[in-house]
Amino acid sequence: MRIGCYQFNPIAYDIEQNVSLICNVIKETMLDLIVFPELSLTGYIFESRDQLRENALPIDSPWLLKLKQCSLDTQTAIVLGYAELDSYNGKIYNSSICFRPGLDPVTYRKSHLFDRETLVFDSGDSGFFTFDYKSAKIGMLVCFDHYFPEAARSLMLQGAQIICHPSNLVLEGAAQLTTRVRSMENRIFWCLCNRCGTQQDLNFTGGSQITDPKGEVLCSASRDRTELISFDITPKMALNKQISKRNDIIEDRRMDIYTL
Ligand code: ACM
Repeated sequence: MRIGCYQFNPIAYDIEQNVSLICNVIKETMLDLIVFPELSLTGYIFESRDQLRENALPIDSPWLLKLKQCSLDTQTAIVLGYAELDSYNGKIYNSSICFRPGLDPVTYRKSHLFDRETLVFDSGDSGFFTFDYKSAKIGMLVCFDHYFPEAARSLMLQGAQIICHPSNLVLEGAAQLTTRVRSMENRIFWCLCNRCGTQQDLNFTGGSQITDPKGEVLCSASRDRTELISFDITPKMALNKQISKRNDIIEDRRMDIYTL
């Protein structure tokens, strides 16, 4: 399965242009699975809840339907971050959505909001879950979720083989380190897709990377440029949790002595 990350600098608050760019990239790259950054359709910063509401999309938005159609046309699974409006209760989530060809999209709502996100977004209520794509089980996280090992562990225990991780990272080097470790400690593949560029006072740190179940970096992007990275992986490698002849990372856990 060929998977990739497209690191770019979204145009602030211009959903039409960002959707168009994303669809063009997907048509040109023709991967099995491609991940884009957190809040790819709008950029990261919202000054107020009202400004966020103007940029948040309900699930039946024409822009999301366009991405769904693009997934079908290209037979590519697309994962990207966007501001999600729940039309039933008015809540707005920092979400990651996955479009799989011909299927209903699945949405994960960011569980751990970072810094000023807490002022405008609602905390995610989707919990951690996995879903199938081709021969693999996929899980999604969004950016700051990487700081909480419980998040990735929850996905691995539900069978995740690949974690798709749209991000807008500002803490230099942190996620490049944690996601290698999360890959290794859970024996899974990890697609960290960060953005690059700046918005107002924030400098986003790029460095998107794909890691394997041993925590090795398979490919990585620059700190500051728009870039596609991709790699051919064998998802079933993530089913092997054996570390040595006598160690298995699931079976060896000491649930009798942990305090979680
Ligand atoms: C972050 O969660 N966007 C740092």
